[in-house]
Formats: sequence, C-alpha cells, structure tokens
Amino acid sequence: MARSCLAIILAAGESTRMKASRSKVLFPVGNLPMISHVIGAAKAAGVGSVALVVGRDADAVEAASRGVTDNLTVWEQKDRLGTAHAALCAEKAIEQGYDDVLVIFGDTPLVRPETLMHSRKMLADGADVAVIGFRTDKPQGYGRLIEQNGELIAIREERDASDEERSIGFCNGGLMAINGRKALEMLRAIGNENAKSEYYLTDIVGIARERGGRAVAVEASNRELIGINNRAELAEVEQLWQWTRRVDMMKSGVTMIAPETVFLSHDTLIEADVTLEPNVIIGPGVTIRSGAVVKGFSHLEGTTIGAGCTVGPFARLRPGADLQTGSKVGNFCEVKNATVGEGAKVNHLTYIGDASIGANANIGAGTITCNYDGVNKHFTQIGAEAFVGSNTSLVAPVTIGDQSYIASGSVITQDVPAKALAFGRARQENKDGLAEKIRARNLAIKAASRKSQT
Ligand code: UD1
Ligand code: CA
Repeated sequence: MARSCLAIILAAGESTRMKASRSKVLFPVGNLPMISHVIGAAKAAGVGSVALVVGRDADAVEAASRGVTDNLTVWEQKDRLGTAHAALCAEKAIEQGYDDVLVIFGDTPLVRPETLMHSRKMLADGADVAVIGFRTDKPQGYGRLIEQNGELIAIREERDASDEERSIGFCNGGLMAINGRKALEMLRAIGNENAKSEYYLTDIVGIARERGGRAVAVEASNRELIGINNRAELAEVEQLWQWTRRVDMMKSGVTMIAPETVFLSHDTLIEADVTLEPNVIIGPGVTIRSGAVVKGFSHLEGTTIGAGCTVGPFARLRPGADLQTGSKVGNFCEVKNATVGEGAKVNHLTYIGDASIGANANIGAGTITCNYDGVNKHFTQIGAEAFVGSNTSLVAPVTIGDQSYIASGSVITQDVPAKALAFGRARQENKDGLAEKIRARNLAIKAASRKSQT
C-alpha cells in the first residue's frame, strides 16, 4: 500500500540577504517562483498534502503554491524561533496522521523528486529520520552530519561545532523525512539550548536516537541542495536550472548552436527537430513545433510557433501570437494576440497586434496594425492570399478581403472587399523641370545669406 505523506514547506524567512521588498521564495527560477518548484518536486515525490509555513507576503506565497497543488493548508509563523518551531506551526496538519512527513525549505528549488523519494524509502525501511545531505569542500555555514557505522548520530550547527566536527565535509541540506507517527512528539521535545537560542530542527536526530529510533543520512548532489539566500545564489541556481533544461532539450532533438545564450522557461515545450539560433529568449507559455527555426535575438512569450515556421532574427512574439504551419515572421517584427495563417509571411519591420492573417497572405515591410485608439483595442482581419503593400497602416477595426491588394503607403480606414485593389494615399503627380527651378532658387537664398554675414 502506498504510504501517505505530508510535506511541510518552510517559507517564513525574512529574506534579509535578498534585500528585497518581497519574500525570496517568490523570486523566479526559469520564470516560476522558487516555492512552486519546491512544491512541484514534493508533488512528484508522492506528497498528498502540503502544509505551507509562511511569514511575510503570505498571500502571494500561498497563491504561487496553489498554482501547483490545491491540497494545501497555510500556517503562519509569527515569531521566527527556528526551523523546528517553524515546522511545529503546522502541528494541526501533522495531527491528521501521515506515514511520512517531509520538511523542505522553500528556498531550495533544485531539489529533485527522486531525492525526496529516496528519503521516504529510508522511512519505509525502518528509519525514523532520514536527512538529505551533500558533500562539499566548503562546508562553512552548514550543519555537519555526524555518522557512525552507517547511522546518523547528530547534526551539529557550525556555531555549536567543535574544531574536529567543523572539518567534516558532509553537510545538512536542510531537508528531511520524519516518521509521521512520531513526528509531533519528537518535534515537541526539541529545546533551544544552543548558540542562537533557536529551536533547531536538526536536534531531531539526537531525539530519535534517545527514543530508540534510527536516523540515517541520504546523499544528494550539492548543486541540488543550494539554498538561495542572496541574488548571487539566485543567479547560480538559474544557471544550473537553465543548463539542465538545455541539455534535456538537446537530447530530445532540439538543436542549439550556442546553448549558453538560449534561455528557457519552466513550461517551454519544444518538439524534436527545432533549431534555436544564438540569443533566443523564451518566456512563459511558449510551444514550438517540429521543423521550426528561431533565428538569433528573438524574444518569445505566450506564443505557439507551428511546424516548419521561420522566426527572426530579431523577432518579438508576444502573448497570443499563434504562428500556423509554415508561416514566417522576419526581422524587427512584433506580433501580439494575432494568428498568422499557414504559409503567410510577415517579413520585415512590421507590427501585427489584435489581428488574424489568412493563409498565404503577404504582409509588406513596415505594415502597422493601428489597433489602439488611446482607449480601446480593435481587431484587424486580413483574408487568405491578401497582399498588403509596404508601409501600410491598417486602422482597426478593419477587414481586408481574401486575395485583395493594398497599394504601398496606404492608410486603410475602410474594409477592402475580396479581390479588390485598394489605394489609400494621394495620387502621384510629376511637374516637368520644376526640380531645376527649385534648386536654383535654393542656391540663390544660400548665396544671399553668406553675403549678409560678411
Ligand atoms: C539550516 C540548517 C543547517 C543546514 C542549512 C542548509 C537548522 C537549525 N540548520 O541552516 O543545518 O545546513 O539550513 O541550508 O535547521 N525558517 C522559518 N522559520 C524560522 C527559521 C527558518 O521558516 O524560524 C525557514 C527559512 O525561511 C529557510 C529555512 O527555514 O527557508 C532555513 O532557515 P535558515 O535560517 O536559512 O537556516 P540555516 O542557518 O541556513
Ligand atoms: Ca539557509
């Protein structure tokens, strides 16, 4: 039978070292708040219920968490009296009775579900506490894991450690699994006689042993357990996260010429056989289908790029851009809330906003949909195989019929019927010899002004 599991997520810290106006667990990694990463990992590790312990920005932290799971209760930690005190803020949740209780810090977004599952497995095998640790040659600041004969006998905080203990390189990652039937009584037994007069969660190891139970350490990679305390660590975690994603995508058939310059988001979906040129930035909500090529310096968010499309270089696709199979959006074009139909081309220096472009239409250089009147947004409908000449302004709301032609430089304020040719500009007139006369007059003016200066 599957074991039931509660995860207590500690997110009540002050985030002092971030020097920020919001809780650090709201800062994004891969465009997703770090708290959402942590809860996602817990969910993937089989956690049924989440108890979220919050301090500042409680509402925003709760909202970011609910985005991942609805099976959530929220507990406020009013005074910051230590990690064990924080875990006990969720005592009503623990009282519900679970086989396993995981305690996870909200600022360790790279933790993998496999690692959490491994610690739960140790409980299933009879341990009362399974602490997730990592090895490092720079253990300063971390609690040290003290082992004997394969068992964990204590976790010593840096401030409380002897010189000999400080030389240990096996450190507490801060996450642990606790026997859910004994968690409450063990947490309640933790005191605060230590250098910081705080209730240390780490003391649970000694308490489990005093009560005849077993504690063990589970080793994870140190990169997985990086806790984010400041913005330099945030950037380091972002780098690690991006590399993991890039490698996964390349292995699944995506070509990246310079992967270190491509940025992905947590929900980016890219099919096999897509090519991303250097310096492509992908925000949230992007799907790219097979065979598409995204050229350098393009910026995408909230966008679907269909099979075989070509985008960029220097294209900006904003939320609601939907490029259908084989269409093209070229350099210095911006597309927002608009469908570009199959095989249609929007190649140069164009803004398409709040619009729909039919299949195989051709949108000339410098075309602008004038979608905004200063108060409201309006829609532009362009039919299949329409040809919009360069430097056209389409003043929305307006409909351009199938297979119509629009003369270059037009300002189109009225609907254009299918197959019609529309001119929306003054007719050209040529005046023979007039250029010569104008030049002579201008030269005379210049000569007169020189004379008056001397
Ligand atoms: C803690 C561990 C240490 C471990 C390190 C790993 C303890 C006593 N020490 O130290 O062994 O090596 O993490 O990163 O557990 N929090 C609350 N309420 C509190 C105190 C903390 O919610 O009253 C939260 C913080 O927001 C944070 C987490 O608990 O997410 C850890 O607290 P922090 O003060 O960063 O602990 P460390 O000193 O890093
Ligand atoms: Ca910390």
